[in-house]
Amino acid sequence: MQPLNSARKMFLYLSFFVSALGLVTAAPLREANFTYAHVPGTVPFNLKEPLQQRLAYVNSSAMHVSWNTYASLNASEASVIYGTDPFNLDLTAYATSMTYNTSRTWNHHALLTGLQPKQDYWYRVAYTNCYGCSNIPTYKFTTLREKGDTSAFSLAVVVDMGTMGADGLSDSLGPLLGGSHHIPLKKEDSNTIQSLAQSIDTYDAILHPGDIAYADYFTKESINGYFGNGSIIVNMTSVANGYETILEEYYDQITPLTATRPYMVGPGNHEANCDNGGTSDSLNNINYTVSICTPGQTNFTGYINHWRMPGNVDEVNRNFWYSYDAGMVHIVFLDTETDLGGNLTGPDEIGGSELEFSGPFGAANEQVNWLKSDLAAVDRSVTPWVVVFAHRPWYVSATNRSSTVCLDCQKAFEPTLIEYNVDLVMHGHVHAYQRNMPMKNYAIDPNGLNNPAAPLDIVNGAAGHYDGLDALLNATYYSAVQNDVTFGWSRLTFHNRTHLTHQFIASANSSVLDEVTLYKEHSF
Ligand SMILES: *[C@@H]1O[C@H](CO)[C@@H](O)[C@H](O)[C@H]1NC(C)=O
Ligand SMILES: *[C@@H]1O[C@H](CO)[C@@H](O)[C@H](O)[C@H]1NC(C)=O
Ligand SMILES: *[C@@H]1O[C@H](CO)[C@@H](O)[C@H](O)[C@H]1NC(C)=O
Ligand SMILES: *[C@@H]1O[C@H](CO)[C@@H](O)[C@H](O)[C@H]1NC(C)=O
Ligand SMILES: *[C@@H]1O[C@H](CO)[C@@H](O)[C@H](O)[C@H]1NC(C)=O
Ligand SMILES: *[C@@H]1O[C@H](CO)[C@@H](O)[C@H](O)[C@H]1NC(C)=O
Ligand SMILES: *[C@@H]1O[C@H](CO)[C@@H](O)[C@H](O)[C@H]1NC(C)=O
Ligand SMILES: *[C@@H]1O[C@H](CO)[C@@H](O)[C@H](O)[C@H]1NC(C)=O
Ligand SMILES: *[C@@H]1O[C@H](CO)[C@@H](O)[C@H](O)[C@H]1NC(C)=O
Ligand SMILES: *[C@@H]1O[C@H](CO)[C@@H](O)[C@H](O)[C@H]1NC(C)=O
Ligand SMILES: *[C@@H]1O[C@H](CO)[C@@H](O)[C@H](O)[C@H]1NC(C)=O
Ligand SMILES: *[C@@H]1O[C@H](CO)[C@@H](O)[C@H](O)[C@H]1NC(C)=O
Ligand SMILES: [Fe+2]
Repeated sequence: MQPLNSARKMFLYLSFFVSALGLVTAAPLREANFTYAHVPGTVPFNLKEPLQQRLAYVNSSAMHVSWNTYASLNASEASVIYGTDPFNLDLTAYATSMTYNTSRTWNHHALLTGLQPKQDYWYRVAYTNCYGCSNIPTYKFTTLREKGDTSAFSLAVVVDMGTMGADGLSDSLGPLLGGSHHIPLKKEDSNTIQSLAQSIDTYDAILHPGDIAYADYFTKESINGYFGNGSIIVNMTSVANGYETILEEYYDQITPLTATRPYMVGPGNHEANCDNGGTSDSLNNINYTVSICTPGQTNFTGYINHWRMPGNVDEVNRNFWYSYDAGMVHIVFLDTETDLGGNLTGPDEIGGSELEFSGPFGAANEQVNWLKSDLAAVDRSVTPWVVVFAHRPWYVSATNRSSTVCLDCQKAFEPTLIEYNVDLVMHGHVHAYQRNMPMKNYAIDPNGLNNPAAPLDIVNGAAGHYDGLDALLNATYYSAVQNDVTFGWSRLTFHNRTHLTHQFIASANSSVLDEVTLYKEHSF
């Protein structure tokens, strides 16, 4: 993927005001005619061009194909043709155009059912052949392996990933940013999206438990002078446009990944509203609060509209907590932002520590009750592995404050994860890599990696975004390996019923920096 600046210079004519670094706030850029390549974050020449193709598993016989357009589509236009023979896409699934306040695009979610497990399908979204559109291939996906299938497979896990390029992680920083951990990208390094693309044949799907795009950093970036000192006036209009531009750009940037690999997401604090609960402009002594957010940029609205995770079709909480089975693995996503139950206030809720004023998405205790019944129903002789993804960590070498270490999340979830012998818990939120020992309520499991009873706990929020990385404190007693200077992602390989390997991959060159294999007897 090209850096945005040079891509824009090559492909675009600029019909509106453009700031020094190329981010448009007054109105979105429009692509030139017949470039045959869509530039991320721009409005395509043909407004019905299907963009942002993204897949999500439902189960081993169903898949969601989602995409966005810049114009509303009628019933026959909003369709996906697909089949097992690339020469004959003989099946059709339909979607409806849906939008929300401040969105400039329409979301579509087509549900493909009646599929065979572990089978290749080819698909094209309607209007792939549209006038003036970019070159869009017929994409291929593979359905989930059937529950109980013991064949080996790998997953990519990435947390805390924003846009790459001129309004995200690049080789420069805003003038107000500095310090050892506001690390810019080195010119010779691949970024995390590029590394995931280079490695695409090494995993089946991508799991992203929270902090997706960092569109809510538009305000912070403007204040920090990243778009040019004083070039952007922060107000409701510029924030609404800047947020949507970054959001659209992110979905465009990940399309080479999401069009062929299911992308399973969970909520993070940066999905909640337009400015992460508030941003201070200390130079001008202005504190921006959630009141600068237009209604479409609050309460996880963009997140809810863009994704369709497994679950009941009509339930708003489907993208917040859910589970599915992949062969011998039961995969669970939790919501650490809202709905912690037990009379706890989630950090992103009204009254929560982060002033995000969002949620709840279920009744009191709904998530924790769901978690208990979901784990109780797992037949470990069929899916011996149970792995859980939750945005915020509780075991991490960081200052013990609520915005960093989520002790309420530990209180809400850890007893249940231990009770049901969960094998692995992964988090992000802290922008660094830390592999802990298998842990149970601050106690290291005496078995270590050799058939521990407690879950292996890993934090990997090092994917990268505008702010760089976070500094960790000196390793705590339970921390086995930590790295706070390298952008990276994780690869999990389920070899068989007893062996699971975790790798920390450096985005710069896709090399493996840390590798560990967990052995579990799993004699259920
Ligand atoms: C694009 O094409 C349209 C008509 O097809 C024309 O009106 C417009 O001027 C063209 N724009 C550019 C930048 O070439
Ligand atoms: C998979 O999901 C589809 C769509 O919700 C549903 O129709 C089908 O019954 C499900 N299959 C199984 C095996 O659960
Ligand atoms: C949908 O729009 C297309 C033009 O893009 C038109 O040919 C078709 O008749 C429309 N279908 C319906 C059901 O309105
Ligand atoms: C969207 O928000 C704006 C600003 O508050 C409001 O004026 C408008 O009525 C809203 N539109 C919809 C469709 O809710
Ligand atoms: C931005 O410009 C103002 C006025 O010229 C100056 O006072 C301020 O220090 C600059 N800020 C940065 C971060 O360079
Ligand atoms: C809001 O900010 C934009 C972009 O900086 C600017 O063009 C516009 O005039 C501002 N609007 C108000 C009402 O200040
Ligand atoms: C902004 O917030 C900071 C601390 O949170 C406070 O010290 C400062 O007085 C506030 N500024 C304004 C203008 O409210
Ligand atoms: C929550 O608070 C209510 C009222 O104080 C109490 O009855 C209930 O037991 C509490 N629930 C939990 C799970 O702590
Ligand atoms: C957020 O959305 C959920 C689901 O629609 C709703 O129940 C909740 O009240 C909303 N929260 C706020 C603060 O608007
Ligand atoms: C953080 O706080 C928890 C709960 O009070 C405590 O158990 C833990 O030891 C603290 N961690 C550190 C590193 O101080
Ligand atoms: C962290 O480790 C370094 C090197 O061992 C040591 O010099 C420093 O004092 C430690 N800092 C703290 C806060 O323990
Ligand atoms: C499971 O996979 C591990 C790692 O590849 C291997 O060492 C082990 O022998 C395998 N176990 C069985 C029963 O195949
Ligand atoms: Fe976060």
